[in-house]
Amino acid sequence: MNAPLIDPFARAITYLRVSVTDRCDFRCVYCMSENMQFLPKKELLTLEELDRMCSTFIDLGVKKLRITGGEPLVRRDIMTFFQGMSRHLDSGALEELTLTTNGSQLSRFAEPLYAAGVRRVNISLDTLNEEKFARVTRWGSLVQVLKGVDAALAAGLKVKINAVALKDFNEDELITMTQWCAERDISLTWIEVMPMGDLGNEDRVGQYWALTDLRKQLAQHYTLTELTERTGGPARYVRLEETGQKIGFITPLTHNFCESCNRVRLTCTGDLYLCLGQEDMADLRAPLRNYPNDNAPLQDAIRAAIGIKPKGHDFDYSRQKADGQVTRHMSHTGG
Ligand code: GTP
Ligand code: 5AD
Ligand code: SF4
Repeated sequence: MNAPLIDPFARAITYLRVSVTDRCDFRCVYCMSENMQFLPKKELLTLEELDRMCSTFIDLGVKKLRITGGEPLVRRDIMTFFQGMSRHLDSGALEELTLTTNGSQLSRFAEPLYAAGVRRVNISLDTLNEEKFARVTRWGSLVQVLKGVDAALAAGLKVKINAVALKDFNEDELITMTQWCAERDISLTWIEVMPMGDLGNEDRVGQYWALTDLRKQLAQHYTLTELTERTGGPARYVRLEETGQKIGFITPLTHNFCESCNRVRLTCTGDLYLCLGQEDMADLRAPLRNYPNDNAPLQDAIRAAIGIKPKGHDFDYSRQKADGQVTRHMSHTGG
């Protein structure tokens, strides 16, 4: 038996997030600049390499695998990868195979994802207004994403909507989005905007809407019951008694959840980032490629990397500027 992955702060690492591409068919204003330079394809891990990498993490005790991007479903032949990973669900080594997506390709892929063992998807959706959606995603179509949500539900997938809380943008949709999700029996998680990547003119502090405030507004309309259940991610949940639905809060700024961090992030080029909000990382592509028939060097590199996992991020807007900012874009590490 392999010893589990334990970091220097005694946290067990059982959740791997894997960005399979840095590309995306949207250009969300808080995530990307309009003219992004994407990586040349030869830099990317091949699907076979991604499979070997993820399988090695599973051998080391990873129980939850979340595929992200960019937009994971724009990577060519990505279903082959999902189908490959399903063998770890069948064997019981992996407990959950899931993804975070912008929803644009779900009409096509919802059914094959279900067939590969995916049971839950997180779909990013910040507004239900077509004009605002076009503005925040720059290139996206709301109608296409809503079709994707319907396709996911029809395929039997549980859907969680992720909305980034943005001041003067979706504050006025708090109740309408809650109702829309309640009608479809889907849960909704709000995320505080984090200072990641240089976006040109976007103003981070101006965008920031604290979830402590959002929660107060919600409590004026609904009865909130605190829930203790967790999904393995950083969200904390309440139930709305009037609708029965779950609302999640991801609060990197107002309440740091790093003490219970259980995850690391692999980029599409094989760099392992130990924290979303820090620069610490390790190159896993070299041990993977240099030893095609021997997993021991890769396992050693993974253990060494977990050994330098930092305590937490330093994001902070309290001095009216975006402290703790990291230079890479969210699309690089997949959120
Ligand atoms: P569940 O399995 O549904 O709990 O998913 P999750 O919340 O782990 O994954 P999801 O991709 O939905 O995460 C939503 C967002 O939460 C991410 O895109 C990030 O913005 C944020 N987030 C997730 N993990 C971390 C983390 O470790 N640190 C920080 N600061 N933010 C995180
Ligand atoms: N802060 C918070 N969330 C972000 N996302 C992208 N950029 C940011 C940011 N700067 C979210 C997306 C998606 C997830 C992958 O990360 O909306 O839900
Ligand atoms: Fe694409 Fe997601 Fe970034 Fe939007 S947040 S540009 S959908 S990767």
